[in-house]
Amino acid sequence: VAQDKKWNIGFSQATTIEPWRAQFNKDIIAEAEKYPDVNLIITDGEDKTEKQVADVENLIRQEVDALLISPKESAGLTGVVQQAIDAGIPVFVLDRNVDTDQYTQFVGGDNKLIGRAAGEYAVELLGGPGKAEGNVVEIWGGLGTQPAHDRSEGFHEFTDKEPGIKNLLDQQSGDWKQDQAYNIMATALRNNEDIDLVYGHNDPMAYGAYLAAKDAGREKDIKFIGIDALPAEGVTWVKNGELTATFLYATPGAEGLRQAIKFLNGEKVEKTITLPTEKITKENADAVLKEKGL
Ligand code: FRU
Repeated sequence: VAQDKKWNIGFSQATTIEPWRAQFNKDIIAEAEKYPDVNLIITDGEDKTEKQVADVENLIRQEVDALLISPKESAGLTGVVQQAIDAGIPVFVLDRNVDTDQYTQFVGGDNKLIGRAAGEYAVELLGGPGKAEGNVVEIWGGLGTQPAHDRSEGFHEFTDKEPGIKNLLDQQSGDWKQDQAYNIMATALRNNEDIDLVYGHNDPMAYGAYLAAKDAGREKDIKFIGIDALPAEGVTWVKNGELTATFLYATPGAEGLRQAIKFLNGEKVEKTITLPTEKITKENADAVLKEKGL
């Protein structure tokens, strides 16, 4: 830890191999640069629970003033989060939750709401409420994460009301990864003559499924919905007509750090900060990219 800075803030990131996480780190680093008093220590869990647990133990040992964590999964990280709390470190949980609410604050998107928006749009794409018909492939994110469960539950609140909608897969996880989703979709395409819509719990998986359909010459028959809306990924894929829609899942990097600093400066913070979402289709993809200067 830096002795010359007022605050040492640790951030335990789950992994950096996924593009959304790389953006997340950029966002938190950019925010930290605005505070000369803050020394930000970022660790990379390398997509492994054991590595992330060791990272957090290390940050506790360094006696950071605050701990920010975006956990790889809920169950495996709950213990070490509790350890930090017990050590008197204020903990800010970002994006994926843990199985305790003893932390200082949670900052992230409302995955249930995003799932509902995706489900409502899927119903519309398949013919509208009461008339929707089609075979749906849902590709789950990590089964041990709250976002995957919320994204699924919200979606099904809408699609399960439609007798004409059939789910072709049962809780198949691509673990948020494009290549795993490609393989799931390639198998689904071999097993099913008709696939009408793919719901990927994030854009890399929706895009992986798109690529599998393209390789099978069937991409034109299928709608693809994803989540994240990174400009250079999801939004661009929507603009190109590869994905039909994506839903913004803003990274909590900047807001999470701002909140931690606010708390360290003695101000009150809310228990939960919910980041807004937005539906991106061909209609607004260009405008969204222009806003980002792309
Ligand atoms: C990145 C990611 C995002 C997704 C989020 C959910 O690791 O998979 O694509 O929206 O995590 O926690």
